[in-house]
Amino acid sequence: MTAAPTTAGVLVDRYGRVARDLRVSLTDKCNLRCTYCMPAEGLPWLAGPQLLSDEEIVRLVRVAVQQLGVTEVRFTGGEPLIRPGLVGIVSAVAALDPRPRISLTTNGIGLARLAPSLRDAGLDRVNVSLDTLDRARFTELTRRDRLADVLAGMAGAAEAGLTPVKVNSVLMRGVNDDEAPELLRFALDHGYELRFIEQMPLDAQHGWDRTTMVTAEEILAALHREFALTADPAERGAAPAETWLVDGGPARVGVIASVTRPFCGDCDRTRLTADGQVRACLFATEESDLRGALRGGADDAELAARWRTAMWGKRAGHGIDDPSFLQPVRPMSAIGG
Ligand SMILES: C[S@@+](CC[C@H](N)C(=O)[O-])C[C@H]1O[C@@H](n2cnc3c(N)ncnc32)[C@H](O)[C@@H]1O
Ligand code: SF4
Repeated sequence: MTAAPTTAGVLVDRYGRVARDLRVSLTDKCNLRCTYCMPAEGLPWLAGPQLLSDEEIVRLVRVAVQQLGVTEVRFTGGEPLIRPGLVGIVSAVAALDPRPRISLTTNGIGLARLAPSLRDAGLDRVNVSLDTLDRARFTELTRRDRLADVLAGMAGAAEAGLTPVKVNSVLMRGVNDDEAPELLRFALDHGYELRFIEQMPLDAQHGWDRTTMVTAEEILAALHREFALTADPAERGAAPAETWLVDGGPARVGVIASVTRPFCGDCDRTRLTADGQVRACLFATEESDLRGALRGGADDAELAARWRTAMWGKRAGHGIDDPSFLQPVRPMSAIGG
């Protein structure tokens, strides 16, 4: 086997995939408690000194962009909008040369207020998560009565020009799996782009069950009953969502079928956790500690070399359907979704 290219170049792995899309978790904390993500009582959060500072995050993103060929930066969490320094971080990343595209995955709470300053700082667009349009269901599913804030957040983002506003929905059997057409109608009415995400084994409670999860096939069948869906002629590239034109287009709907139609062969993602660990995959069982190196005085070249080594070891696929599959120790909220 050839050795990892540590001294120069992009983030390539043994299978020839190149990571250009960086997901950065800004916090593991959240103001919701979605049942498929976190227990009601929350989780043992990272302590302050464990978290990367704003300056440390910007430095690592700079290394990724200037030395490792990253062109897309997505901030996530936990809930990124609760990180106090968010606007400053976005602004510093937007000032990098070359400037990466910058987006944010959020539950939308507080976005109505923050959208104009995030846009002015250089944020390009947002993904907002919304699994139901019914207030009682929302309250049950997220354990917080905040549907109105989320809807206001989406509207605020669209108004501020953080477009296209993408909406992420996870369907769960017996909870909201009857809502697929309604969610799509809502998205079409507001000019948002909806993507359904198959539920993955990344919850802190380890409650995921392959036999009861709602599959992409079921979601598409439900949509087909009310809409004409045709294959999207646009090139999919490394995008996780497979997309369809709705009623002839131009509106689209996407499905991220991570479990039943994995797209690992085209994956172009690399991840940085809020405590400075590089992960090659959401489902990786290994992490590579950049925070320790950074705080130990490593220069940019050494940080880049460590990042390259971490990505070189990326596995071919997540293996969720394999009997030997092991759920990662850290939940989605700590890795950064
Ligand atoms: C972990 S959240 C972090 C960002 C933000 N708090 C939010 O909810 O958008 C990112 C995305 O992951 C999704 N997610 C969380 N747990 C999941 C799971 N077990 N399977 C599939 N998607 C999940 C959420 O619905 C959300 O769209
Ligand atoms: S999915 Fe996002 S909003 Fe929901 S609990 Fe997890 S981190 Fe929070």
